[in-house]
Amino acid sequence: MKLDRSLPTPATLFVCSLCRFSQAEASREGTAGGQYLINQLQAALNARQLEQAVTLQPLRCMAGCHQPCNVTLAAPGKLTFILSGVSPTEGAETVAEFCQQYTDTAGGRVSYGQRPVAIRQATAFVLPPLPCGHP
Ligand code: FES
Repeated sequence: MKLDRSLPTPATLFVCSLCRFSQAEASREGTAGGQYLINQLQAALNARQLEQAVTLQPLRCMAGCHQPCNVTLAAPGKLTFILSGVSPTEGAETVAEFCQQYTDTAGGRVSYGQRPVAIRQATAFVLPPLPCGHP
């Protein structure tokens, strides 16, 4: 299937729901840090009217448990950003801002200088788009 470049590319924001608040604190009132972040992110994405452009996809562990919270932003034909150490209490608005930049930028190629500082610091990996299988 060929991508229709005239339409905005939907993005997926994967977030580990099981990440701890910190090494010393797994959860607050029964809510894990990752789930807390997910709740904050949904509100932040809604506030930016990004709920159609960005699908929030909770996951149960992304194998980065030693550095909570873990988040990945990906879309067909775009770079994939793997973020670690996102603050469950302070990170949602910044991640939502980055989602806005990502959805607005061809190929998801948000320049380093344009990325929020917290995103620069949390970026563990940036991967190229997957080959689409067409010449
Ligand atoms: S618990 Fe979040 S990455 Fe493992």
